[in-house]
Amino acid sequence: MKTGKQEPMVVLKNLSVTFTGGKKQVKAVSGVSLELQRGEVLALIGESGSGKSVTMRSLLRLHPEKRSRIEGQMQVGGRDVLAMSARELADYRGKVASMIFQEPLLALDPVYTVGAQIKEAIRRHEGGVSEAQAQARALALFERVRIPSPERRLDAYAHEMSGGMRQRAMIALALACRPQLLLADEPTTALDATVQIQVLLLLRELQRELGLSVLFVTHDIGAAVEVADRIAVMYAGRIVEEGSVREIMRAPRHPYTLALLKSRAHGALAKGARLDTIAGSPPDLANLPPGCAFADRCARANETCRRMQPEPVVFSVGHLARCHHIETASTALA
Ligand SMILES: Nc1ncnc2c1ncn2[C@@H]1O[C@H](COP(=O)(O)OP(=O)(O)O)[C@@H](O)[C@H]1O
Ligand SMILES: [Mg+2]
Repeated sequence: MKTGKQEPMVVLKNLSVTFTGGKKQVKAVSGVSLELQRGEVLALIGESGSGKSVTMRSLLRLHPEKRSRIEGQMQVGGRDVLAMSARELADYRGKVASMIFQEPLLALDPVYTVGAQIKEAIRRHEGGVSEAQAQARALALFERVRIPSPERRLDAYAHEMSGGMRQRAMIALALACRPQLLLADEPTTALDATVQIQVLLLLRELQRELGLSVLFVTHDIGAAVEVADRIAVMYAGRIVEEGSVREIMRAPRHPYTLALLKSRAHGALAKGARLDTIAGSPPDLANLPPGCAFADRCARANETCRRMQPEPVVFSVGHLARCHHIETASTALA
């Protein structure tokens, strides 16, 4: 459900994230501008190391403050996340924006039962919730994420659950404080194929039922197609193409997007086909080239590509790509 007139859930304007702790400065995210509408699912796709997780984590300001630099603008639900105090941030995390990770064992505490963690999260964020009320909400959450025997499982520890159950438990924890924005970082990558699809379907269902806005990070284009309304393709810290799932699948414009789709086709459109079958490797983020970051791997690259950053070319509302050869790219598809 798109609600164009409302203020977007997320607005990123020219967001850059640089890690400054090492010998060289690593520019993991370079000038990313994105909007996520309320009730929309946006998949951020790209190879490993393209800056997807860094972009997502910056939305919760999870980077080491002293060893990184965030520039640009970042608004979530109309609030300036970069201007929040520590206290505002603690309230915002979980209540406005919540995150689920690839590895639930990192998000779930091993010394408390999952139920205790959910209740604690609810009571920490909301005053005046009794133990019984928190228990009832935790149970409802476990039912909502379809955990069988929910009552019994609330008393289990994370390590006592299967991978799929654990992922559901983490989703329940992420939803405990009724966030508006769900940040999902490769939530199914560590799971078996059949469990993967169940968890993806669950996410899509929860998103619809609860009207959540979802930013979904994945390197699995099949998963992106399954759950997203729109796709943004990231390469070396930049968004190189953005559009509806339909447009991206039917008329991809950027050579990198084309390569991604081709690498997917190799696996006979198999779910879980990886994006890492493109020859060559991305540029060093500590030493980004002046021109198009994809030039070294692109058959069409010329002098202009190596010298100048391509400007975004808009094809239709919400579909844009950054490539000097955009016409050639589209005719190559025919
Ligand atoms: N805390 C950090 N310190 C230094 N470099 C980092 C840090 N976190 C991520 N990076 C670098 O930023 C780049 C993008 O990483 P990431 O966003 O995790 O990629 P992915 O698209 O696979 O999620 C990588 O080169 C990674 O090494
Ligand atoms: Mg990642």
